[in-house]
Amino acid sequence: MSAGTMVVSGAGRGLGRAVAEHFAEQGWQVIAGARAPDRVPGHAGVIPVKLDVRDADAIAGVAAVVGTGSVEVLVSVAGVFDGVGAGLDDVRPEAMTRAFAVNALGPLELARALLPALRRGRTRTIVMVSGLMGSIGLNEDGGNYAYRASKAALNAISRSLALDLAADGIGVICLHPGWLDTEMGRGWSDPHSDHEMVAVSEVARDIQNLLEDPRTDRGGRLIDRRGAVLPW
Ligand SMILES: NC(=O)c1ccc[n+]([C@@H]2O[C@H](COP(=O)([O-])OP(=O)(O)OC[C@H]3O[C@@H](n4cnc5c(N)ncnc54)[C@H](OP(=O)(O)O)[C@@H]3O)[C@@H](O)[C@H]2O)c1
Repeated sequence: MSAGTMVVSGAGRGLGRAVAEHFAEQGWQVIAGARAPDRVPGHAGVIPVKLDVRDADAIAGVAAVVGTGSVEVLVSVAGVFDGVGAGLDDVRPEAMTRAFAVNALGPLELARALLPALRRGRTRTIVMVSGLMGSIGLNEDGGNYAYRASKAALNAISRSLALDLAADGIGVICLHPGWLDTEMGRGWSDPHSDHEMVAVSEVARDIQNLLEDPRTDRGGRLIDRRGAVLPW
């Protein structure tokens, strides 16, 4: 896979920022979407763009920056968590709506807006950063209704996109990135002690490895950062 243009959402902090930095260092031109574009990595290869994934005009603005150029890879990282221990009593329509808007609808709309540019590329890959908590099969703890349901929706969206876009040669990688050493991850205490917190720089490298490995599932199935398929 040779370097080209990549679009990343959530590039102001956390995993999105690390992905933007990593690929820019590898020679990619990174169109880095962030709600606060001044927080994206200050690298010559990075083009900061203001992006709230709930805002249709902002999404159209990212597509306008791409213009008639091609996009090799879209990495949709932006996401919100409803909080450690958010339980049944914490379910509020506003929290559900916000989680669905950011975690499910935003990635779908961003992908739709960039389809013409992805079709013009060679790599033709969408990476949806989902999460293990979106897996119904692996849910043994309950709670986190907004986060779990919105990431399960993203998993369903990833699968449908992969099926619908296969004829265009566009693949979808639906990724559980691991338990991340970020603002979101640090607020979380994992009830399963066999999981270790991982640095975002390492996950950015893993994403590159997944993109370069022809064996990586591009059919929208939920996979971990080593490429193993997880239950939906
Ligand atoms: N942390 C974990 O352990 C873990 C585990 C599994 C999956 N994930 C997933 O991995 C992804 C990255 O997580 P992280 O740990 O890096 O989270 P984080 O540190 O909390 O960062 C979240 C990112 O999403 C952006 N964002 C939130 N709402 C947005 C919106 N409406 N429009 C655009 N951007 C928005 C934030 O931008 P602002 O700076 O503007 O708020 C920030 O860049 C998320 O999708 C998350 O669900 C994380």
